Amino acid sequence: MLKEIFEQPKALAETIAPRVSLEPAGLRIAEEVRIPQSELRELKRINIVASGTSRHAGIVGQHIFQELVRLPVEVDYASEFENRNPLIGRAELTIVITQSGETADTTGAQREAKKKGSRTIAISNVLNSTIAREADGVLYTNAGPEISIASTKAFTAQMAVLFLLAAYIGSVRGDLSKEQLRGWIEELLDLPRKADEVLKQAPLCQRLAEHFRKIEDFLFLGRAIHYPIAMDGALKLKEVSYVHAEGYPTGETKHGPNALIDEHLPLVMIATCDRNDPGSVRRHEKDLANIRQFKEQSGRIIAIATEGDVETKALANEVVFVPQAPELLSPMLEIIPLQLFAYYTAVIKGLDVDRPRNLVKSVMQE
Ligand code: AGP
Repeated sequence: MLKEIFEQPKALAETIAPRVSLEPAGLRIAEEVRIPQSELRELKRINIVASGTSRHAGIVGQHIFQELVRLPVEVDYASEFENRNPLIGRAELTIVITQSGETADTTGAQREAKKKGSRTIAISNVLNSTIAREADGVLYTNAGPEISIASTKAFTAQMAVLFLLAAYIGSVRGDLSKEQLRGWIEELLDLPRKADEVLKQAPLCQRLAEHFRKIEDFLFLGRAIHYPIAMDGALKLKEVSYVHAEGYPTGETKHGPNALIDEHLPLVMIATCDRNDPGSVRRHEKDLANIRQFKEQSGRIIAIATEGDVETKALANEVVFVPQAPELLSPMLEIIPLQLFAYYTAVIKGLDVDRPRNLVKSVMQE
């Protein structure tokens, strides 16, 4: 798992670099998407279906698509997709995300979407997997084989592929100008370097895992696009270290979980901020207000914050910094300290971090 966490800069570079060009600004993914541009222009809605960590990537993708493509996006648990008899059909695109390409719930959902007339695009890390063979288009996450049961590098690569796909569809539909696309490509190409920077925080994440080794419950919080990262941080901790953790939208705490918050329940808060984005600054002000309130309740806060954020540093008990990045890309950096925290917690407890009990890498039964 540690090896795969550290392979994330390479996974991001290999997923992004071959598919983009700067002069002229463009994306080279038409052959992978394989759906005619005339159809992409007619789309009315996008559905994203996946399981576990791949679904968390899907929720990040929902925020990206809604920003770059301006279409409604629904995200489903693959295991629930058929149960709700989804109202989908033509002029819709269903994106199925699965590292292994063999998850039965996800292949089942893909078949259901196709049966109802939707086009499908698969995002998979495994060449020629079942899901890839059955999709109209396939975009591979070039993360290299992921062996450890906890998905780490495949997750960051999934988010990168979702960004590329959204930028492509946004460009085709005229929602994204050439200039905007160029700006995004420059940011994307800089992500591997920033991921490398985050990995330098590994010793701090190890110290935090030592410090909180006796804790049996954590609450992970995040707002907007950072909420699925909170959920994935909680999932990683659960699956490899058997510690109970919940991922929650930060703003929801006042609707119930607040009652739990005291010195015995550490809060891991994603509190990053893109200082160039007024929307992000507004959201961050709410984060700061929440941190103050949690502290009044004796809450202990481990914040994931943006380098240079002195306010969060002054308020939180512990801070792990990540480099400044646009909000739509920041999740690919924020998840890294949470993966490291889960990894070190499991190692400190003497657990088999690569093969946690009761779990398999490809869930091939429904
Ligand atoms: C991730 O850490 C988990 N092991 C699990 O949630 C996984 O993401 C899920 O089972 C989906 O797998 P897939 O991406 O291969 O479809």
